[in-house]
Amino acid sequence: LRIGVLFGGRSAEHEVSLLSATNVMHALDPAKYDAVPIFVTRQGQWLLSGFSDGALATPSSGTEICLLPGGHGRMLAVPADGAPHDMPRIDILFPVLHGLHGEDGAVQGLAEVAQVPLAGCGILGSAAALDKDIAKRLLKAAGVPVARSVTIDAGDAPSLAVLEDQLGLPLFIKPARQGSSVGVAKVNASQEFDRALAEAFQHDRKVLAEEFVRGREIEFSVLESPSGELFVSRPGEIVPAQSHGFYNYNAKYIDENGAALIVPADLSPEVEEAMRDMAARAFRALGCDGMARVDFFLMPDMQFLVNELNTIPGFTDISMYAKAMAASGVSYPQVIDRLVAHGLA
Ligand code: DAL
Ligand code: MG
Repeated sequence: LRIGVLFGGRSAEHEVSLLSATNVMHALDPAKYDAVPIFVTRQGQWLLSGFSDGALATPSSGTEICLLPGGHGRMLAVPADGAPHDMPRIDILFPVLHGLHGEDGAVQGLAEVAQVPLAGCGILGSAAALDKDIAKRLLKAAGVPVARSVTIDAGDAPSLAVLEDQLGLPLFIKPARQGSSVGVAKVNASQEFDRALAEAFQHDRKVLAEEFVRGREIEFSVLESPSGELFVSRPGEIVPAQSHGFYNYNAKYIDENGAALIVPADLSPEVEEAMRDMAARAFRALGCDGMARVDFFLMPDMQFLVNELNTIPGFTDISMYAKAMAASGVSYPQVIDRLVAHGLA
């Protein structure tokens, strides 16, 4: 089975994708899969990559790859100098791209147009989950509790005093469509507010101000079977180091001691069960299929709310998706087998 593994990409999570894709390549059993790694440059070109000595090639130029519309996996290789030629067709496309242009339905739409099976979540769920504003509206409509927030369009920001009235302080400023906490800031005072807004608007023209929720960060991995049943993993807990203030980009990927992962998280069976039900409900509410990681906050009174869903969760060494699945008896290669089986169904 030939798998086209897309990685890199145009989003701010380009580097995270390199880490994720390297792990996915390691987990692909060569006896079953013939992986074709395709590097998406920061500019969005698709370049033929390679995987040797445990590392993915990230060329800056080379052979461009084109997935043909209606081609059922047919791909053209376009060398920098030389004539375009056919590549062996792929059986399934596996995007390991985080954030915009990869986790947001764009590449999922391309797979539809190419009429090639796709591993993971389809167009609608991807697009809905990546937009934190749209996701909250759908979750609320389905009775899934979420943190209070105000959506701010570029050029139309209320004052901090107005937001404080509605959300309290501190509050979070987040770009609506961004991952790994890129562009996210915790705001206590007005100077910070202006800086945080300017930074968030660098990443999106729509920004969320969100109440600060004091709670434990609990995450569940959801994986759909080919026949549509949802498997929800045991819970994992993220304990960010105090020094980082919150689970930001540095705590996630730069500082080796930025956070501790506890799997399975220590929860009472009743709370765990209620949260798993809610994870499944959130997954369905956004129209997700295939997979997602559902992130919660659990308050001291054992109330909880859904923070967000990630339809292409991180597969880095420190990422929770695979760890929570492993703690639930599903190994990393099995996760991949199931995603592929789901995509081919
Ligand atoms: N957006 C990152 C990759 C995650 O949610 O794991
Ligand atoms: Mg995310």
